[in-house]
Amino acid sequence: MPLPKAELHLHIEGTLEPELAFALAARNGVTLPYADTEELRKAYLFDDLQSFLNLYYELMAVLRTEQDFADLADAYLVRAAAQGVRHAEIFFDPQAHIARGVAMGTVVEGLSGALARSEETHGISTQLIMCFLRDESAESAMATLEAAKPYLDRIVGIGLDSAEVGHPPVKFRAVYEAAAALGLRRVAHAGEEGPPAYITEALDVLGVERVDHGLRCMEDADLVERLVRDRVPLTLCPLSNVRLRAVDVLEDHPLPAMMDAGLLCTVNSDDPAYFGGYVGDTFHAVREALGLDQERLRELARNSFEASFLEHDEERRAR
Ligand code: HPA
Ligand code: ZN
Repeated sequence: MPLPKAELHLHIEGTLEPELAFALAARNGVTLPYADTEELRKAYLFDDLQSFLNLYYELMAVLRTEQDFADLADAYLVRAAAQGVRHAEIFFDPQAHIARGVAMGTVVEGLSGALARSEETHGISTQLIMCFLRDESAESAMATLEAAKPYLDRIVGIGLDSAEVGHPPVKFRAVYEAAAALGLRRVAHAGEEGPPAYITEALDVLGVERVDHGLRCMEDADLVERLVRDRVPLTLCPLSNVRLRAVDVLEDHPLPAMMDAGLLCTVNSDDPAYFGGYVGDTFHAVREALGLDQERLRELARNSFEASFLEHDEERRAR
């Protein structure tokens, strides 16, 4: 039996497996620039975040209808259930779809339709977090929040993803303020490729209550002290860090040092179709590569519920 856990850093578009990509391409009459799934898989060699993002956005061309988004979410939930996931807070990137002529409503109705059946079908409670693309403008983020207003009953919070360096959190101050006023929870990717100062800024300027990745906090002792003191959760994604070359090999990942420092660490899969494993696979990989014992793995699983947006009663039930 896999450990019951919550997954808090998961891009639904990053769960698009090659087989589903080709099936949706055929259904929608979209031609992919790869002969077959084998040739596509060969493209999964990344130098950095941007080289991954190029493929991630390219493959999204196959997602066109409500049913496509529902099928994508269902496929993730089946895999997640088998790996012990009891609760998932799921990112989606509406701007990447709106830019291709797919309406916000198509995306949200498709995803939320599948998620509404998830507790009953898969035993997984879910929430949706809408991310803004940080390499797009602040105005575009604000227009996206506006477009999401009819659907806020199905969106728990906002996040910030895509190319980090050169796009500091402060660029999105206004849209985070507007989201807070609407009662939305706030998270942001920070300190994946960007400097520790972006983590501090995400806390101070955007008011985030959880930091996605946050890996580079380890370069700033004062920041680590603050994150420990305030029990700010970090949603780490060790397999992603290796594939996107933030760390050389999994054996060098700072996760054990981060746990030793007292940081509230969680382990997540980020974009599992691209990075070699879902969250249960990630737990297995860190146990093997980093020598984490069962107690440490249990601590990570406990942390995932503590760091989630579940209320305490719901949290107890999900465990
Ligand atoms: N970082 C930033 N943007 C992303 C990621 C990530 O790991 N995955 C999908 N979009
Ligand atoms: Zn991510």
